[in-house]
Amino acid sequence: MFTTLRLPLIGLLSLTLAQAALAADCATVQSRGAEVFANECGVCHAVAKGAVGMMGPNLAGVVGRKSGSLEGFNYSQAMRNKNIDWQAENIEQLITQPQAYVPGTYMPYMGMASADDRQAVVCYLKEQH
Ligand code: HEC
Repeated sequence: MFTTLRLPLIGLLSLTLAQAALAADCATVQSRGAEVFANECGVCHAVAKGAVGMMGPNLAGVVGRKSGSLEGFNYSQAMRNKNIDWQAENIEQLITQPQAYVPGTYMPYMGMASADDRQAVVCYLKEQH
């Protein structure tokens, strides 16, 4: 009887621990993410709320935002038609190879090879509101 009770509890506990570990991981790579963003994305994208980027849409609050939806930005037809909500996973896919993920996109970025850097930059973006 005890084992049947204990098993789901252990499962729940390890799930919570796994989620906590993920959140902690993000916290530890955020400064790395800021650096990667400055080097790889900042030339085109602003993250300060309301600031206008050099070429790309402002990315403040991009996590959870609908693709191609920033008021006043002239998106490609491809981005307008993509119709997704930006989340960690699909932002990582976009920056891995923009032209493969959104064929016809205006984002002239070749892609980021390092999975660690992609994750760090997305962790950083999550904190830009
Ligand atoms: C050389 C300029 C340039 C660079 C570098 C660049 N982007 Fe972009 N980005 C753009 C442009 C232009 C668009 C709009 C694309 C379109 O309309 O097809 C865009 C779109 C996006 C979008 C979709 C936003 C929305 O409102 O739907 C995200 C997310 C994004 N970029 C993230 C990044 C990240 C993260 C990096 C760095 C790894 C990066 N970009 C590097 C120019 C750039």
